[in-house]
Amino acid sequence: MKKAEYFSKDFEWDELRVEVENDPSLSYHLVPFEPSLSVAEEEEAESQPWNDFHHRHASGKFFKERRYLLQEFPELVGCEENSKVLEVGCGNGSTVLPILRGNEKVTVYACDCSTEALERVKETIYASNIVSIEHRFHTFCCDFSTSGFPSWLACNPCQANFEQTSDGRGKNESYLTDSSSLKESRCCIGGVDFVTLIFTLSALSLQRMPKSINECFSVMKPGGLLLFRDYGLYDMSMLRFEMDKKVGFREYMRSDGTRSYFFSLGTVKDLFLGAGFIELELEYCCVKSVNRRNGKSMRRVWVHGKFQKPI
Ligand SMILES: C[S@@+](CC[C@H](N)C(=O)[O-])C[C@H]1O[C@@H](n2cnc3c(N)ncnc32)[C@H](O)[C@@H]1O
Repeated sequence: MKKAEYFSKDFEWDELRVEVENDPSLSYHLVPFEPSLSVAEEEEAESQPWNDFHHRHASGKFFKERRYLLQEFPELVGCEENSKVLEVGCGNGSTVLPILRGNEKVTVYACDCSTEALERVKETIYASNIVSIEHRFHTFCCDFSTSGFPSWLACNPCQANFEQTSDGRGKNESYLTDSSSLKESRCCIGGVDFVTLIFTLSALSLQRMPKSINECFSVMKPGGLLLFRDYGLYDMSMLRFEMDKKVGFREYMRSDGTRSYFFSLGTVKDLFLGAGFIELELEYCCVKSVNRRNGKSMRRVWVHGKFQKPI
């Protein structure tokens, strides 16, 4: 992919917004909608469809490496040696692969709620001949929106130690006396430097997002970065959903049962700042691409965000 394709603004998001909001045939996308499922029903409904999805795409043909990722998030290359990255909802490894390839000094912890996905990501990564991969790549199964992350990522005392009190001392310094505990302690890996949330948050219902983002925050080291990319409001794929696929306001369910939420910048800001993050970058990426088969122009909208856990 050409660099320019991802950095350029092919169109103004506001022009698209005006067009969509004045088109009567699209008005059903704009009206409020009360979700009909309870939280418990949603928990049941959300992970199984993803497992089925990865089972159906087991051949690997579906795999597409996100080659633009390191251009969008150069910190993943320029970071300190031995930095730790947690890729949440790793799927078949589209995000994991460029990170491991682009930086031989990072360790990637990749999780997904689907065991099928974890099989696929291992196949992808082990087939790629990356240097010393057995020490730098770890997978685990986890639904971060319901059970949270395992304590070996950042145990409770280390999490408490991240939260410095106003005099600069960690709350739990009597328990964790050694400052190296923030680096690599025996109780856990000491938290992560980066969390990548790439097209994963949109798979959750809006009501489960605040808790899920808090989970990410809690396993990050102070100063760590959360790198976010996901579907933006009025993306072509949103406008293609028919009325009966709507399961909430700006939330849709595909025919295979997986969900997709479409983010405005305001919603992303509220979610991440609400969890305690500092906003570093937040914008729409508006890219026009042409469908080779029918020559039709497609307007894609993604949200790019970079958030920091306060030091
Ligand atoms: C669209 S894929 C994105 C995969 C990957 N991040 C990438 O860059 O291609 C969304 C992934 O999130 C996973 N997922 C959905 N809900 C999840 C949850 N609650 N906890 C963990 N993973 C989840 C799905 O199984 C799927 O693999």
